[in-house]
Amino acid sequence: MPIVPGELPRPDAAALEHSEHVAAHIRHAIGQADGAIPFSEYMRLALYAPGLGYYRAGAEKFGAAGDFVTAPEVSPLFGQTVARQIGETLALCEGDTVLELGAGSGRLALDVLRTLASENRLPQRYLILEPSAELAARQRDLLAGEPELAARVQWLNRLPEKPVRGVIFANEVADALPVERFRRDDDGVCRLGVGIEDDCFAVRKLDADGAVEERVRTLAERYDWGAVYESEFCPELAPWIQALAGALDRGMILMFDYGLPEREYYHRQRDMGTLLCHYRHRAHEDPFLWPGLCDITAWVNFSALARAGEEAGLEVGGYTSQANFLVGGGIGEAIEQARDERERLRLAGEIKRLVLPSEMGEVFKAIALTRDCAPPSAFAFHNIAARL
Ligand SMILES: C[S@@+](CC[C@H](N)C(=O)[O-])C[C@H]1O[C@@H](n2cnc3c(N)ncnc32)[C@H](O)[C@@H]1O
Repeated sequence: MPIVPGELPRPDAAALEHSEHVAAHIRHAIGQADGAIPFSEYMRLALYAPGLGYYRAGAEKFGAAGDFVTAPEVSPLFGQTVARQIGETLALCEGDTVLELGAGSGRLALDVLRTLASENRLPQRYLILEPSAELAARQRDLLAGEPELAARVQWLNRLPEKPVRGVIFANEVADALPVERFRRDDDGVCRLGVGIEDDCFAVRKLDADGAVEERVRTLAERYDWGAVYESEFCPELAPWIQALAGALDRGMILMFDYGLPEREYYHRQRDMGTLLCHYRHRAHEDPFLWPGLCDITAWVNFSALARAGEEAGLEVGGYTSQANFLVGGGIGEAIEQARDERERLRLAGEIKRLVLPSEMGEVFKAIALTRDCAPPSAFAFHNIAARL
C-alpha cells in the first residue's frame, strides 16, 4: 500500500454528509453503552456497520480512484504468481476447492482463476467469503465478464460446513479485523476506548479485564517496555484462524498482509502501536477523522496468527516476505516471456512495486499454514518461520 505523503484532500459535501451519518450511528452506540465503547467496537462500526461502514457502503476504496492500492490492484502478476502456488498445492493435497476470503474488487479472484485455467488446474469450486454485500456485487460484476470462470464461483455468507480440501487464502484481510487498543503506564494497564468530548470522539481509558491485563503485563515483561507504552492486539485473530482451520480438511491456508513477528511488533521502540488510516492514498493516524470514509487498519502479529494455527492442529509451512514469496514463486519469469521491450519495461515496473523493500516487498509478509500437505515451492526460496 504505497502512500503519498502530504495534506489530506477534503471530502466533498455528499461524502461528509455520509460520514456524519456514520458518526451519528457510533455516537448512538456510545450513548447506549453509558458513554464509552471499546476501540474494537468503534472500528467495527466505522468499517462494517451495515449500509454505513467503510466496507459496507459505496466508498471506492481500491485502486487509483480509491484510498489505497493492494497488491492485486498493482499488477496481475501478483495473482498469477499466487495462482501457481495455489495450483501446486491443489495437486499436492488432491484438492478440489479454493476459498478466497475478503475478495475486495474481485481483481485477485479474476487473475487467480485465469491463471489456473491457463494451466489446466481450475478447481471444481472457487468460493468467495465476502461479508460486504456491496463488494460481493462488485466482484460478481467483474467476474461476469468471463462466464466460464464465473460458473465455478460461489459466494458464501459463512464458512462452509463441510471442511474443504484445497486452499483457503486472503490478501489484506487480517489487517482489517477490529483491534483493541491498550496503554500501560504508571497507573497500570487500561484499554483505550472511545467516548465523546465537546461533540467529538475522544479516547477514554477503560478498565482492562483480568485477561487483557495479564496479556499486556506478560508482553511488557518479555519485551522490556519503557514507562509508557501504547499498542493494540486483535481479539478476533485467533478465533478467526481457528475457524478457518476447522474449515480445512487438507491443504493450506495462505495469507498476505503487512505485519511482523511478535517481538518486533511489541518492540520497546514501537510504543505508539501500528494503527494506521488511509484516505485518498494518504496515511494518517487519526481513527476519528471522517468515520466511514477512511480505512482503519493495524499490522498483523504473525506470531499470534501462527500460534492460533498450531493450536488448531495446523503446521506453519512457511513464512517470508512478500518479495521472497513472489521471487521464489517465479514472478520474474514474466519478463523473460514479454513480447517486446515496452512490455518488459512495464512488467519490470510492476514487479518493482510488488517486491522492492521501499514499496510492498518487505513490510508485507506471506504465511502458509498447512494440514497434511507440504508447502508450495515459493517458500523453499526463503523461509523465516523460525523468527515467529
Ligand atoms: C483491504 S480489503 C482487501 C481486498 C482484497 N483481498 C485485495 O487484496 O484487494 C479487505 C477485505 O476483507 C473483507 N473482510 C473483512 N473482514 C472479513 C472477514 N472476517 N472475512 C472475510 N473477509 C473479510 C472486506 O470486506 C474486504 O473485502
